[in-house]
This record gives sequence, structure tokens and C-alpha cells, in this order.
Amino acid sequence: MINSRIAGIGYYVPERVVTNHDLIAVMDTTDEWIQERTGIQERRYGKKHQETTTTLAAEATKIACQRAGIGLADIDFIIFATLSPDYYFPGCGVLLQRELGITSTEIGALDIRNQCSGFIYALSIADQFVKTGMYRNVLVVGAEMHSMGLDFSTRGRNVTVIFGDGAGAVIIQPAEEPGKGILATKLHSDGTYAEKLSFINPGSHGGYHLNRFGESFDYGYPDPDTYGEIFLTPKMLEGHQYPNMEGQFVFKMAVQKFPEVIQEALQAVGLRASDIDMLIPHQANLRISQFVQKTLRLRDDQVWNNIQRYGNTTAASVPIALCEAWEAGKVKEGDLVCLAAFGSGFTWGAALIRW
Ligand code: ACO
Repeated sequence: MINSRIAGIGYYVPERVVTNHDLIAVMDTTDEWIQERTGIQERRYGKKHQETTTTLAAEATKIACQRAGIGLADIDFIIFATLSPDYYFPGCGVLLQRELGITSTEIGALDIRNQCSGFIYALSIADQFVKTGMYRNVLVVGAEMHSMGLDFSTRGRNVTVIFGDGAGAVIIQPAEEPGKGILATKLHSDGTYAEKLSFINPGSHGGYHLNRFGESFDYGYPDPDTYGEIFLTPKMLEGHQYPNMEGQFVFKMAVQKFPEVIQEALQAVGLRASDIDMLIPHQANLRISQFVQKTLRLRDDQVWNNIQRYGNTTAASVPIALCEAWEAGKVKEGDLVCLAAFGSGFTWGAALIRW
């Protein structure tokens, strides 16, 4: 079976830079706290009413297509990973198709809801489609417009200071040369701790999952005999409509699972950590990336970090970082590139690419 490869890559981040100092004006936080705990100095926020997760994705897609030497109408399948979609449904895949002006091609569009590992999952799916010969130009996008739905009061500071907006896109095609392209992808999940990093409202849960752990909370649900009124209640809008994270718990899992899944992918193709030319870790926290780097005994020039400038852009973080590294000439023909991510779900994964 032939491999698939990244034939073109692009990223787009909104123009507006929001520094840690800008956030100090609206919540009780400090530049020192944010930089010391996360490495973040600034992030980008999209333009309200003008930019959306879909429009950021469209900009990144145009660049990826141009670099792959294909037209937008040549895309034969769309895979879109995001946790901050324009609509609850339909997903951003079809909105992107419309934004790109390619509805007449009537290609399939798939949405991935795997948060930080969304891009790696999407890449793995594209890889299977291309390997089997089903498609020749699969568009894989990771995009987020976090800034529209965060809690900008002090209550939300542990989450809000971390996230930023952006998009990254790749075109996956069959690899022409043997031994090149995507060598392995490894995907994992463990739903035991689903709520440790979650955005649960609005939703149809009706308190069920929390009640199971004896953590019931009154979201103002009506009498059980009443129809509906579960998905969204007025009470949820009193501050329960934001992401929630137990940071330290997530951190401990991340530093364990990142190296594990990277080693698993390396073993699958008979390679070692020392063979990696460039590691692109999901940009969740600079301290997590540094821990992974140390565990794998990689030098500074073997790991690409840009969380300092963009924060955590979730599904977009891996393709943005990969694209930057490639543009900087740090990912070259023949290099072994490792992509890895861990996040909400928990879901995690790694991909190994011979460039
Ligand atoms: N400014 C100032 N103080 C703050 C802030 C802030 N922005 N946020 C929290 N604090 C305070 C807390 O209130 C707490 O104060 P207390 O000790 O008086 O109670 C103190 O700082 C420590 O809070 P922690 O949450 O324990 O801080 P921690 O050192 O764990 O850092 C962080 C938090 C950065 C979130 C870290 O835990 C982390 O990076 N976790 C992993 C994140 C991750 O990998 N996410 C996965 C990807 S995201 C996705 O999938 C969507």
C-alpha cells in the first residue's frame, strides 16, 4: 500500500494581538503568572462578526492548496477538526466548503470533535482514505475561534489566558516516493476523566454524567415530566456556559501520555527518539513541551514551540507549528517529523512523517 504525504501546508492567524497585559485590564492575573506557568506572552483574537472558525480555516486552506499546486475544486474530501464551531450543527466542514465556493463539487465533509488531538485524528483518517486509493486530495483543517466563547471574568482566568484563535490546513496526497510520507499514526482515548477538561453546556446530558459521580448540580431543569428544556436552561447562562479545566490533573496526564504515544509510533516503524529531526508537540503549555523534550532527550532545535506567540489554539496548534517550522526551513526533505497531541477526552495521538 502506498503512503500518503503532506503535499501543501498553510496557516492563518487573526491580525489582532492580545498580550498578557491586555488581559490584566479585564481580569485578576499577571504577566508573570501566565509566562511562568504556560510560557504564553500573547495570542491572537479574531474580528467579531467578520471572522469565524470557518473563515480562518478558509484562509489557511487557500495557502495549503496553492503550495500543493492544486485548485480549490480539486479537493475531494474535507476533514475539519475544531472545538469552537460556528454552529452547534451543521459542522464547519460544510461551511468551509461553501466559504471556499466549492459546493458544486458535492464532495464529502467530515467534522472531528477531538479537541487538542483533533488534527492528528483528522490526519490519520485522511491517511487511510488516501492509502486505500479512495481520495487523492484530502483537505485536513484544524481551526479555532476560542475568543468568542471564553469567560473574561477572573473566575475564568485559569482557562481564558491560555487560549488563542488560528487555523492550519494541509492537503494530503499519495506519496510518489516509497518510504516518504506518513509512516505511522497512533490514536488513543480514555473517557474516564471526560469532565476534567470539558465544555458541557449547552448539552443533552441533563446532569446524568455528573450525578453518576455524586456531583449533581442544579442547572434549573424543569419537572422530569415536562418535554424538553434540558439542552439549554437560563441557569446555564449564569456562568456555566464556559470551558472548565482541572489544570494540574490534565498536566500530569499529558506529560505521561505524550512520550508514551510518541514511543509507540516510533516502535511501530522501528525508529528511536534520537531519529526525530523535528518534534511538533501540541502547544498546550511550554512546560509540557519542555518535559516531553527532556524525556525524549531532544535538543532545543529538534522541538518547535510557538505557544509564546499564539497561546493554545487547540486543533489548529499542530498544523500552525508544523507550517511555521517548515517555512523557517527547519523541516526539510527526508526529515523525520513527529506530531503529537494530548487533550480533552482524554484523547491523544502521534504521527510520524518522513518529509
Ligand atoms: N492568573 C493568576 N493566577 C491564576 C490564574 C491566572 N490566569 N489562573 C489560575 N490562577 C491561580 C489559581 O487560582 C491558583 O491559586 P490558589 O493556589 O490560590 O488556589 C493558582 O494560580 C494555581 O492554579 P493551578 O490551576 O494549580 O495552576 P497550574 O500551575 O496547574 O497552571 C495550567 C495552570 C497552566 C492550566 C496548567 O495546569 C496546565 O497547563 N495544565 C494542562 C493544560 C493542558 O494540557 N490542556 C490540554 C489541552 S487543552 C484542550 O484539550 C482543550
